[in-house]
Amino acid sequence: MNFNSNTNKPVIALLGSGSMGTAITKRIGAGKTILLGDISEKNLEERAKELRTSGYIVETQKVDACDGDSVRAFAEKAASLGPVKYFIDTAGASPSQAKPEHIIKLDLVGTAIAIDEFSKVIAEGGAGLIVASQTGYMMHLTPEVEHELAMTETEKLADLEVVKSTAMSNSGAAYIISKRANQLRVRTAAATSWADARARINTISPGVIVTPLAYDEFNAAGNTYQQMIDSSAARRVGTPEEIGAAGAFLLSDEASFITGTDLLIDGGVIAAIESGTYNLHIR
Ligand SMILES: NC(=O)c1ccc[n+]([C@@H]2O[C@H](COP(=O)([O-])OP(=O)(O)OC[C@H]3O[C@@H](n4cnc5c(N)ncnc54)[C@H](O)[C@@H]3O)[C@@H](O)[C@H]2O)c1
Repeated sequence: MNFNSNTNKPVIALLGSGSMGTAITKRIGAGKTILLGDISEKNLEERAKELRTSGYIVETQKVDACDGDSVRAFAEKAASLGPVKYFIDTAGASPSQAKPEHIIKLDLVGTAIAIDEFSKVIAEGGAGLIVASQTGYMMHLTPEVEHELAMTETEKLADLEVVKSTAMSNSGAAYIISKRANQLRVRTAAATSWADARARINTISPGVIVTPLAYDEFNAAGNTYQQMIDSSAARRVGTPEEIGAAGAFLLSDEASFITGTDLLIDGGVIAAIESGTYNLHIR
């Protein structure tokens, strides 16, 4: 049965078809073609089934977000399906899931590759959303280092001194620096490649959102997460649906004057750290 016989439907490309990405996509997916991408074929199958049985039109493509050729092929596949109006990147690995080298490859360089490649296929008037993290606010880098993270060519990012010295020292530092770089590179892209494409791009920086990725973190991080939750204004975790609501807003025409910005959605954790009511120890 053909659920939608309209032609030239807008395309949503989702890189990393996990919990938050799916929550955002469900909010905006009606009447569009959804291209799911993930390194895990099992994830792809499960997400595609979940969405198709709810009436969405879904295509899938296996993609490795660390690999430039693979991401390029994914972007080209999206463009072959129709006008790419939306790009969402939630492919990531958390500190307890991976060594620093992999976090740099995926969360830092992989995200930079995706920002570059999708600037080439995003439709005029389209919008991109990169999921960074509250951790991007947890380390104070010098303006010079921030400038390098924002402006260095993607191929040379992993060679930066801050990456080789600080980020490679442990997975937590690699994650924090990668997520700060996501925020900074999106700001740069909003003014350059994505501006040239007449499209918008923003980041969301979630706090503690309960997903399978976060579950791995809770188990590995001792009582840090509990302290974070208890010292935040919200005094609770967040849900993928709350990220879905904010993501849908940033991708919508309601946000058509918003580009190059970051939306922190953390229940007040960073406010607690910055105001000194919560003292987080970062190695
Ligand atoms: N859950 C949280 O508390 C939290 C907080 C802040 C930021 N984040 C970030 O949000 C993003 C999404 O996280 P989530 O909690 O929805 O996790 P998730 O595990 O549900 O989704 C991540 C998806 O990325 C996929 N992926 C991993 N490596 C890949 C690769 N090389 N190529 C393509 N796909 C790959 C995974 O298979 C998975 O489907 C991540 O970047 C994460 O760092 C999560």
